[in-house]
Amino acid sequence: MGFDRKILEASLKAGSKSSYLPFSLHIFESVSSTNQILWDLLHQGAEAGCVVIATQQTAGRGQWGRQWISHTGGLYLSVAIAPKLEASASHQLTLASAWGIAAQLRQCGVSVGIKWPNDLVLEGRKLGGILTETKVSHGQIAQAVIGVGINWANPVPETGINLELWQAAQATKPISCLEMLTCTVLQGIESGMQCLSQEGISILLSRYLDLLTNIGDRVYINSHAGIVVGVTSQGNLQLRMATDNTDELIKPEISVEPGIISLGYSKSSV
Ligand code: BTN
Repeated sequence: MGFDRKILEASLKAGSKSSYLPFSLHIFESVSSTNQILWDLLHQGAEAGCVVIATQQTAGRGQWGRQWISHTGGLYLSVAIAPKLEASASHQLTLASAWGIAAQLRQCGVSVGIKWPNDLVLEGRKLGGILTETKVSHGQIAQAVIGVGINWANPVPETGINLELWQAAQATKPISCLEMLTCTVLQGIESGMQCLSQEGISILLSRYLDLLTNIGDRVYINSHAGIVVGVTSQGNLQLRMATDNTDELIKPEISVEPGIISLGYSKSSV
């Protein structure tokens, strides 16, 4: 499956409201990992706004060191940014990207939600994921790569969903091609970064929470039950722990870092 650079360039031009991140596009048929290729380009002098897109990956990287299976038909892209943030705030980049992409897709008519911390979900199944990698210097993020994988027409596991099949069952088809999806994702990352840098983490977080599908979910930490009540500005999950005490006000709250627990998917394929 080919990728048409001209269609993407035209869509980006038609939709551009600002030049917050002037994109420079590097499009490949097959690469190891778009994140890796982008880091290589950054080491050779590429700058923020550099984008790597591939129609297939042979060594796609997922969160927590997992592999990201990347058959032809999916969207695999990475964007370089240079945020002015402390290293400890790196999860904010994932929150910003997740919110920006989900919000942009929703504007097109695709009812995407967010599963903490970095998953894009549609009808309770995984539509895509985000992998943020950073290079830190003197406690500050010097460079960051936002990697996004979205299921477009590729085969997916039981808990996944792809956009082409979902659209086939809808009255309208809001995203007409892979290039339009790519444009929507790039605009989403741009608007997420713009929200974070110009409006700040509190506003960004409230928008992220509006799209979070996990509020009210029951989870277990070391066999202790808790209910998801929010996400902190550092990207931690906030839980209200169940106790024998019936007074809601004195139920203890704890926060859990990404990677410590994994929230499941509510639905599997039929
Ligand atoms: C997740 O585990 O949910 C995050 C997956 C992120 C995968 C994308 S695909 C494009 C980019 N390049 C990679 O190697 N990984 C990210």
